[in-house]
Amino acid sequence: MPWEPQFETGISQVDIQHRRLFDRLETVGRLAAQQAPYSEAEREEIKRSVYDLEDYSEAHFTLEETLMQENEYPGLEDHIKDHERFTATAKEMLVKLDKVLSADDKEIKSFVRQLYEFLQHWLKHHILVKDHQYVPYIHND
Ligand SMILES: [Fe+2]
Repeated sequence: MPWEPQFETGISQVDIQHRRLFDRLETVGRLAAQQAPYSEAEREEIKRSVYDLEDYSEAHFTLEETLMQENEYPGLEDHIKDHERFTATAKEMLVKLDKVLSADDKEIKSFVRQLYEFLQHWLKHHILVKDHQYVPYIHND
């Protein structure tokens, strides 16, 4: 799935970060589709993907929430709840990570699939819907 103009919010900092998540989604998609066994390098990539989510959510959600707050976006509370759900799931995945990576390839694959579905769901239901809802309210980015 290529990056599409409909993903853009028009707020450049937000779009740069969304694109980073999108790239990560593509990497995870490749890892989810491939046949086992996973090489050492691929295991590293899986690890990096999960750690990246933590990094991403911290920096990105802070940016979005600051923009929404400064522009008095009325849907702020609801939006923050969505961000909190993402962060909680990302943390759960981080907790499971080491155990999964030392397990067999079948378990790794099922974990990578879950990660892929999670990111895809986020793109479709959060980035494409919720993030686009605040855009008309943002006047100082
Ligand atoms: Fe958001």
